[in-house]
Amino acid sequence: MKGVILAGGLATRLRPLTQVTNKHLLPIYNKPMIYYPLEAMQRAGIKEVLIITGPDHAGAFLNLLKSGDQFELRLSYEIQQEAGGISQGIALSESFADREKLLVILGDNIFTYNLKQTAKEFEEKRNGAMVFAIEMPTESKQYGVIELDKNNKVLSIEEKPENPKSNLAQTGIYMYDNRVFGFIRKLKPSRRGELEVTDLNNFYVKEGAMECGIIDWWVDAGTSYDELLRANNLVAEKVKNNEIR
Ligand code: G1P
Repeated sequence: MKGVILAGGLATRLRPLTQVTNKHLLPIYNKPMIYYPLEAMQRAGIKEVLIITGPDHAGAFLNLLKSGDQFELRLSYEIQQEAGGISQGIALSESFADREKLLVILGDNIFTYNLKQTAKEFEEKRNGAMVFAIEMPTESKQYGVIELDKNNKVLSIEEKPENPKSNLAQTGIYMYDNRVFGFIRKLKPSRRGELEVTDLNNFYVKEGAMECGIIDWWVDAGTSYDELLRANNLVAEKVKNNEIR
């Protein structure tokens, strides 16, 4: 299983912080944001990771992360020319994946959950896809919202719905088998002009091939100034409590 971290986009919601740098290089307490998904890859037992970023700041990622030795990862880099959505980014990893399964993590997602066991099981036994969700009683409509049946099978995923069917928000952590690239080729841009990860995930949902894991702590650090500040404060507290390095 190989890893993909999506670190592109224009992050207009965080201007002027992102005027001359990429969002995923902004600090979260004592480290650049992208360190957190990289460390999650390392914890998951992944060895090879592709970082997908935009053309403007790719050099900064190389300067910072180099070949990935400090994370015990082998890093490669790919350029996403336009901000065309998460699925468009994933499509760029087809030759890197080389028919292996993928663990995809959005570069602004911070979580402590250890994916190792699930990744091993998914790699060895399962076909289809997995998505990870978190309970968000009040804010779920800002995210993809996942509806499960009583056996934890995914019934639907809706992108930022007006009337959420559950309080389970879709995080930016996904596992896919190698059919993912075929599904992406069938996608059409959404109203915001992007190839949406929710539309991609729904191909698997329709086949009954999407499973959902629930995680208990997660921050989407890159959505607003407030979330960025909240991520900094939460991580600072966890570092001081030795819950994260
Ligand atoms: C994207 C997905 C959304 C998901 C979120 C998690 O939203 O479309 O379903 O809940 O990532 O970070 P975006 O940040 O592109 O608005």
